[in-house]
Amino acid sequence: MEMQSRSKMLRFMVMSLVFFFTEMAASMSTQNLDVQSQLKLLNKPAVKSVKSPDGDIIDCIKLAHQPAFDHPSFKNHKIQMTPNFHPEHAFAESKVSSKTKPGSSREITQMWHLKGRCPEGTIPMRRTKEDDLLRTSSIKAFGKKKHKTIPQPRSADPDLLTQSGHQHAIAYVDGDKYYGAKATINVWEPKIQQPNEFSLSQIWILGGSFGEDLNSIEAGWQVSPDLYGDNHTRLFTYWTSDAYQATGCYNLLCSGFIQINNEIAMGASIYPISGYHNSQYDISLLVWKDPKEGNWWLQFGNNYVLGYWPAFLFSYLSDSASMIEWGGEVVNSESDGLHTSTQMGSGHFPNEGFGKASYFKNIQIVDGSNNLRVPKGLATFTEQSNCYNVQTGKGGSWGNYFYYGGPGRNPGCP
Ligand SMILES: *[C@@H]1O[C@H](CO)[C@@H](O)[C@H](O)[C@H]1NC(C)=O
Repeated sequence: MEMQSRSKMLRFMVMSLVFFFTEMAASMSTQNLDVQSQLKLLNKPAVKSVKSPDGDIIDCIKLAHQPAFDHPSFKNHKIQMTPNFHPEHAFAESKVSSKTKPGSSREITQMWHLKGRCPEGTIPMRRTKEDDLLRTSSIKAFGKKKHKTIPQPRSADPDLLTQSGHQHAIAYVDGDKYYGAKATINVWEPKIQQPNEFSLSQIWILGGSFGEDLNSIEAGWQVSPDLYGDNHTRLFTYWTSDAYQATGCYNLLCSGFIQINNEIAMGASIYPISGYHNSQYDISLLVWKDPKEGNWWLQFGNNYVLGYWPAFLFSYLSDSASMIEWGGEVVNSESDGLHTSTQMGSGHFPNEGFGKASYFKNIQIVDGSNNLRVPKGLATFTEQSNCYNVQTGKGGSWGNYFYYGGPGRNPGCP
């Protein structure tokens, strides 16, 4: 890593600590108003608000008021409205727009779109409600750690794998330098047995070893009653630069990600979703590193460039990623002494195939020449294939793909 980016990163971490204590002092002085003061920090003044049919309120807030700029490290940050480089347009235009291309369809991709849109110059932000904070054990930690784990395919200690109660079914590549990843994922609404469990499907962009300084950028869909208060499937992002210890959070729940797009709200529910033996709906996600500024960009679908994680948030990822993972994760809390019945993906095993099982298709990585490529040496991993499994395939318009998921508890997974 360059000296300059390292010192910038260290400065960010030190300032995060100072920032944390200033916030804490501020909230202590207001004593019982802890919840109210935290809500005031999380929610920003809205230019317009949209009430979604799912109960969410989406606030359209001015670009410059977004949470990233709460942090002193962002004080002199010049917001980038377009990426310098886009791996899908490498041979076409050099600049891409963050706006929907003229003539392309404005399909409904999030439920709140049924009730309105956000104007230019604003970004849509899911409003955090009092109930959201009251559900958490620590108001300060809301949206931050929340028992996240990262699937560690080659862990030497099999006991460690199941101890944390997290189960995965993933495909992955490692052993090279990666500058991004892409996939198209079909969207389901898996059933969650216990409110403190979750089920998600995502891409992990990982840098460093599985130690305390692991860097991670994550994007996908999730059902998490604890985080959102319901069972809807939501678009989410997550990042950390220290293996979930002090930095990072979901969506826009802390300073970090800079959003430029006024159409897609992180943490908002996706609509419509796939049905068993019925219509299939999928989303595409692309994460890539801008070779000039070093920022990590996120695109949703073919048209929505959502924003970026500035390079200075990270240590290892300020250079490149060392591992990419795609797949599902659930929490198995074994609340009644049996394996959870929380579903992964569609809740059906991979061998059921299209229309029934969940999939990731056209999985690709961004290589050292900033081109999208099929992943070399794709491997799979699952802790208990009788509970949740994964099955890769290749060919045709689907490129490299895999089916994954399962029902959790069943006669083979007691
Ligand atoms: C979520 O689903 C569980 C069952 O899986 C149900 O018990 C619970 O009431 C649901 N929660 C909401 C807010 O709909």
